[in-house]
Amino acid sequence: MLKIKDLDAYYGESIILRKICFDVKPGQVVGLVGRNGVGKTTFLKSIMGLVATPYGEISFNDKNIIKEISYKRAKMGIGYVPQGREIFPQLTVYENLILGLEVCDGKGQIDDEIFTLFPVLKDMLSRKGGDLSGGQQQQLAIARALVSKPHILILDEPTEGIQPSIIKDIGRVIKMLKEKGNMSILLVEQYLDFVLDLADYIYIMEKGEIVEKGAIDEIDKDNIKKKMAI
Ligand SMILES: Nc1ncnc2c1ncn2[C@@H]1O[C@H](COP(=O)(O)OP(=O)(O)O)[C@@H](O)[C@H]1O
Ligand SMILES: [Mg+2]
Repeated sequence: MLKIKDLDAYYGESIILRKICFDVKPGQVVGLVGRNGVGKTTFLKSIMGLVATPYGEISFNDKNIIKEISYKRAKMGIGYVPQGREIFPQLTVYENLILGLEVCDGKGQIDDEIFTLFPVLKDMLSRKGGDLSGGQQQQLAIARALVSKPHILILDEPTEGIQPSIIKDIGRVIKMLKEKGNMSILLVEQYLDFVLDLADYIYIMEKGEIVEKGAIDEIDKDNIKKKMAI
């Protein structure tokens, strides 16, 4: 469903990603791991059309999207939760969720399923986003991406700076979405055990390149741990 071929990405004149090839199949949870600064966020931004990608291909549901603007990509069914969450602190939880419907032209509604996945948000609808804890804000950011029912959910380090109990909740939500089977998930993480527990397939990035990949039950996990530790 998401197929990336020989993708380069630049900030200005500096090349950040080189010849990335990357596949996410329908219903799969795919992990991307790598140390700080290797280019994981840049890769996700490339998928969303937020950085320059003059060379390579990005196809989504068999359509080449590399020239589409960011908003169009979201509208096609790519849900993106950026690193650091980026919820609107001055808006209420409810208003933040409603903004997630923008990509469906404001049509549609917030399904009860959202509150099945994130019960904590139901009691907080009228609170300001900024008054939530970091973990709750992360849950809100994921919920906001889910209200438009994307075909793929892209998460950039959802466990970063978050307390263990909420990391568990987020893991549980990813498992529930995976069991439903109608959405793919691309999970970027530095928390390796979290990814190993959830992903079907994993890619390892070093200095802007994919250096290893494999199905979760075939890949050499100790080797990945070593690469992440250096
Ligand atoms: N806005 C930017 N302008 C220029 N360089 C950037 C920008 N954002 C990130 N970089 C550089 O791109 C490289 C990859 O960063 P990033 O994609 O954020 O890595 P990761 O998400 O793996 O930690 C780093 O060397 C970083 O300094
Ligand atoms: Mg990052």
